[in-house]
Amino acid sequence: MCGIVGYIGKRDVAPLLLEGLQRLEYRGYDSAGIAIHAKGTGKAPGGLKTAKAKGRVRELESRLPKRFAGTAGIAHTRWATHGAPTDENAHPHVDTEGKVAVVHNGIIDNADELRAKLTADGVEFVSETDTEVLAHLIGRSQAPTLEEQVREALRVIEGTYGIAVLHADFPERIVVARNGSPVVLGIGEKEMFVSSDVAALVSHTRQVVTLDDGEMATIKADDYRTYTTEGSHTSAQPTTVEWEAESYDMGGHDTYMHKEISEQADAVDRVLRGRIDDRFSTVHLGGLNLDPREARAIRRVKILGCGTSYHAGQIGAQMIEELARIPSDAEPASEFRYRNPVVDPDTLYIAVSQSGETYDVLAAVQELKRKGARVLGVVNVVGSAIARETHGGVYVHAGPEVCVVSTKCFTNTVVAFGLLALHLGRIRDLSVADGKRIIEGLRKLPGQIQEILAMEDEVKQLAAEYAEARSMMFIGRVRGYPVAREASLKLKEISYIHAEAYPASELKHGPLALIEPAMPTVAIVPDDDLLEKNRAALEEIKARSGRILAVAHQKQDKADHTIVVPKNENELDPILMGIPLQLLAYHVALAMGRDIDKPRNLAKSVTVE
Ligand code: F6R
Repeated sequence: MCGIVGYIGKRDVAPLLLEGLQRLEYRGYDSAGIAIHAKGTGKAPGGLKTAKAKGRVRELESRLPKRFAGTAGIAHTRWATHGAPTDENAHPHVDTEGKVAVVHNGIIDNADELRAKLTADGVEFVSETDTEVLAHLIGRSQAPTLEEQVREALRVIEGTYGIAVLHADFPERIVVARNGSPVVLGIGEKEMFVSSDVAALVSHTRQVVTLDDGEMATIKADDYRTYTTEGSHTSAQPTTVEWEAESYDMGGHDTYMHKEISEQADAVDRVLRGRIDDRFSTVHLGGLNLDPREARAIRRVKILGCGTSYHAGQIGAQMIEELARIPSDAEPASEFRYRNPVVDPDTLYIAVSQSGETYDVLAAVQELKRKGARVLGVVNVVGSAIARETHGGVYVHAGPEVCVVSTKCFTNTVVAFGLLALHLGRIRDLSVADGKRIIEGLRKLPGQIQEILAMEDEVKQLAAEYAEARSMMFIGRVRGYPVAREASLKLKEISYIHAEAYPASELKHGPLALIEPAMPTVAIVPDDDLLEKNRAALEEIKARSGRILAVAHQKQDKADHTIVVPKNENELDPILMGIPLQLLAYHVALAMGRDIDKPRNLAKSVTVE
């Protein structure tokens, strides 16, 4: 969602903050703003100066006043929750006297109530945001230190936050706090950074301290200190960020999405590296924290995730059921957490999240733990909230994903599920021969992904044709169905073409009514035991003059076009069959002139409900 960045040191702060905001823009891009401790004359501090603008960071940059110098400041890029994207609603928010500036990620649930109280006390609000409440509460505190003022304000608010606060009377410090929304400190040489995401830090430092929920920190140019919101000292230790600064660059591609699609062979290689055990035809998953006896006692697997990660979880559930013979299913975490589910001690719960910060997934994990469940994570971002909250898990090692829509993380997550399914299978009743077969299939993936990526020109030509559609149908059966769902989501997210995904078997129960020449169908047709059934669905569509694009292992006669992908093991085919459809969505969106990395209304990492 929104992004926070802050700096205190010796360098001119505005360019640093703008660069940080550019790096965070994928988290939200409705509006942006900066507050700095302005350089004073002589020894007197210059007070706070702010600049804000609706729109992208470049808009803010063009609006910065000429004299905007200082060496400490905070900045924000917003994805609107409370109040429309406007200059007034952009962060930072300041108190009435203009002494306090706050940037905030998250949602203050009791903002309306607090706003009413403050208004009754004569406070005039200038924005519609929940965050402004926080600025006034801090500004009105009589406590002697900024830390205590922030603490007092946090005591009365309910909700989630990652915040950074500047105060004109305390120019040598920035105070930050975290509850449900990430805050990471970056430790430099006589300079300190803060951000909601390491993406904004890695070009300056890879030494970071990740705050826990309920933790606060004071950062000064040459020092930082962490403590709880109750004031007791904590000893959060610095860690080194694993990802290089360059992995956040576009690397010669025109968009992050294209870069990330193109990186998938290497990414899959990474998730496999060091994990395969040929001797026992299995895989080692060091961080799983699940001994064989516990693994054998599992009666069900429930996978929870949102959006693309949920789709990866659906494929994962099928893999676990097929290879480990444990009844498994996936459910959107956002639904699960609100339906008071029966939490069963014999069920293994798996939370799946690229960012490791998605609030609905985190809340589901917390609820499950409260009820005594064992929860594992399948997560990309090391040390993220979900990774830390779960009992163990599998990192998917896709590297940073900057494009708002997920591609390489989806693929790596599905491969990680393949590893987990194999691991569980070999502990239970998967044969050595089947273990070997799956390992061989896994090893083939990077090369086969390269083969698919080499078909980009062919897919691009098809995209030119399908970009004219106003609506598209995606179908698949069993293993192909989650592939169809993910492909349909990808297309609608970045092209804004309406797309629906259905199980091919359900077509004749209703959606067939939509089929006509103007409504093309993308069909996932793997060469497995359901091939003939899938072909029958193509016949049904053709009989209604529907246009068909098939993704298959051999040319399909009934289809107008077939993208022929390399065959792997049946269980692993879903990993490959979605990749040409990522390219299709990409080229359709490109042909339509869409802003591919920043689709409208969306943001990466949904850290609010
Ligand atoms: C779509 C997409 C989203 C995310 C979803 C969950 O392309 O990326 O649907 O998958 O918001 O995010 P994570 O995986 O970070 O929990």
